[in-house]
Amino acid sequence: MDMNKIKAAVLTTPKNVKNLIKTQFAKPEGKAGEFFTLAMNVFNFKLYNAVYNLVSKDEGAKILDVGFGNGDTLKRLDEKLDAEFYGIDISEDMKVLATKANAEAVARNRMFLTTGDVEQMPYEDNFFDSVYTINTIYFYKDADKAFSEIKRVLKDGGRFICGFYSKAYFERSEKYQFEGETYYSTRELKELVVKHGFENVKIKVVDDKKFMYCLVGEKRGNSTDADSTDE
Ligand SMILES: C[S@@+](CC[C@H](N)C(=O)[O-])C[C@H]1O[C@@H](n2cnc3c(N)ncnc32)[C@H](O)[C@@H]1O
Repeated sequence: MDMNKIKAAVLTTPKNVKNLIKTQFAKPEGKAGEFFTLAMNVFNFKLYNAVYNLVSKDEGAKILDVGFGNGDTLKRLDEKLDAEFYGIDISEDMKVLATKANAEAVARNRMFLTTGDVEQMPYEDNFFDSVYTINTIYFYKDADKAFSEIKRVLKDGGRFICGFYSKAYFERSEKYQFEGETYYSTRELKELVVKHGFENVKIKVVDDKKFMYCLVGEKRGNSTDADSTDE
């Protein structure tokens, strides 16, 4: 991959930059997708660490990454945990890239990567000990469907972990905002997750500038989307 050519193209075509960024963050593809997901790995390592601290450390735990991008977070977790990993991403190119990055784990049936949409996942009910997602919530077309699906595939007692940039980050300038995307304040996201029946929902700030946050919530057997309450 010629990174310099990609960088030059991005810097010398300002009119197209916004479109390029929008498409490559929402659904990275091709060489540009490789470049943008590498950049995400550099900028978002604090979010990756926050997620690592919260996923199940149990031997054989089943852990799902929703929107795994180039598979870097899965790789980091696989190096540290004795777990079974799953990933779903809407971009077929990301599946290819993440499979390459995690070739050994995939070959040994320790990691299973799928192309698909969070709003309709091909997993059984009550299957995962942890479901995490990093920087994907802005792109969900129907957030209610997505959070219902996440809750459905989690075991009772399982954790949902969500790394995200707060609405305040995107509201600094119009150039950070894209049509069709949804940004959440910490309060809005917490309310949405609580509405879907998650319990003990907590949000921690992850960076000094207070833009990056990590939410964690638990699925409890007796909670439903309708009757849940805040902590
Ligand atoms: C900004 S990237 C983040 C990638 C990775 N989580 C990271 O932090 O490096 C967003 C990822 O979510 C995926 N994605 C977007 N909408 C999705 C959806 N509805 N279902 C599954 N994956 C989705 C994109 O294809 C992309 O790989």
